Amino acid sequence: MSKIKDRVIKLNKQYVCPDKIRIFNQIGIDLVIGKREGPYIYDLDGKKLIDVHINGGTYNLGHRHPEIIDAMKEAMELPIDIGNHHFPSPLRGEVAEMLVRLSPGDMEYCVFASGGSEAVDIAIKSARYATQRRKIVSIDNGYHGRTGLSGAVGNTKNAAFFLSDMPQDSQIVPFNDISAMKRALENQDIAAVIIETIPATLGFPLPENGYLAEVKLICEQTGTLFIADEVQTGLSRSGKIWAIEKFNVVPDIIVTAKGLSGGIYPIAAAILNEKAGSWLLEDGFAHVSTFGGSEIGCHVAKKVLEIISRPETLAHVNSISAYLSDSFKTLQEKYSHLLEVRQCGLIAGLKFDGEMGAVFMSKALYDNGVWAMFSGYDLSVLQFKPYLFADQALVDVIMEKLEKSIIQCSS
Ligand SMILES: Cc1ncc(COP(=O)(O)O)c(C=O)c1O
Repeated sequence: MSKIKDRVIKLNKQYVCPDKIRIFNQIGIDLVIGKREGPYIYDLDGKKLIDVHINGGTYNLGHRHPEIIDAMKEAMELPIDIGNHHFPSPLRGEVAEMLVRLSPGDMEYCVFASGGSEAVDIAIKSARYATQRRKIVSIDNGYHGRTGLSGAVGNTKNAAFFLSDMPQDSQIVPFNDISAMKRALENQDIAAVIIETIPATLGFPLPENGYLAEVKLICEQTGTLFIADEVQTGLSRSGKIWAIEKFNVVPDIIVTAKGLSGGIYPIAAAILNEKAGSWLLEDGFAHVSTFGGSEIGCHVAKKVLEIISRPETLAHVNSISAYLSDSFKTLQEKYSHLLEVRQCGLIAGLKFDGEMGAVFMSKALYDNGVWAMFSGYDLSVLQFKPYLFADQALVDVIMEKLEKSIIQCSS
């Protein structure tokens, strides 16, 4: 290891994240990301890796997409800065209009945040105000962030760790269990169901046929709002702009973050229908965020939305997803170690044999030049998410490395 890399690790171990470094060290992964470009990241010591983790969709467009870099440079040349969150802003208005227009159903408003957790907090607060109910139903081992409200739904282990879990305000039901959902909502006292269209940290289990539509129907029957957390699945990864559209569901609220930033400038948003956004007419100061909807971020997000909504982008995602699916099938036929492939567009969870199967695969892939991460709540499933512009040649290289890693891990 170079002296420079060693010093970076020591500094971070001392001042930033000692436990995380210890854990990755145990697995044998000592990545310090230096240069990055397109689908590639380079370790500080030069090792080249294909990034199929893409930080949950943050690098949906790849790293430093040239049009995003140009948009950022342009933003720096404009006579703007973060802006003042109290006043109307041309850029914020334009991005809000784009997000509303790109969403299904009758969305009306867009409340900006600086990250996904904050946007989830906004979604929860909006649902509570609209329904005047407190309780939120979420999926067991869903992941919606780590701020106060977002961390208190889904997997609440970390909220409890900080003594900020709220068991009286939150109820958990298993994914794909419609009876449990019915029971949870039957008293008509639930403000909202929050659900990742395909729960990422749980290893991307796919919703069973009709499940999400049925959940939405029960929500409608019980006066409960449906919050679609599209932080990982949105922005054209699924082959539609929002994955929820693939399941014919019109949510009351959509949460978007990560990829909206183009991987360059933080920005996130909660997109609200009339009912969910009712508080905006009552008390405009009820939620404020200094950095939420920063004008620099909006300038970048405008370009992101333009790119992801181009017909050729969606057409490419759909054709390369089909190619990826065929490649997975070939591997599955050859190797029983790959137990299951869960795929929706360019979102994939690969389940391997053994409780820690994906952790070993993550390490093997790292050694073979691919960065893919195991799912936090199911260590047998590897999250596998090539960027939107992966071509067949790149998929072939990824598959070669995947095959080599499977052979190493199953022997
Ligand atoms: C589905 C989902 N929702 C919300 C969040 C929280 O986003 P952030 O880390 O930007 O706060 C994440 C982050 O990984 C996520 O995966």
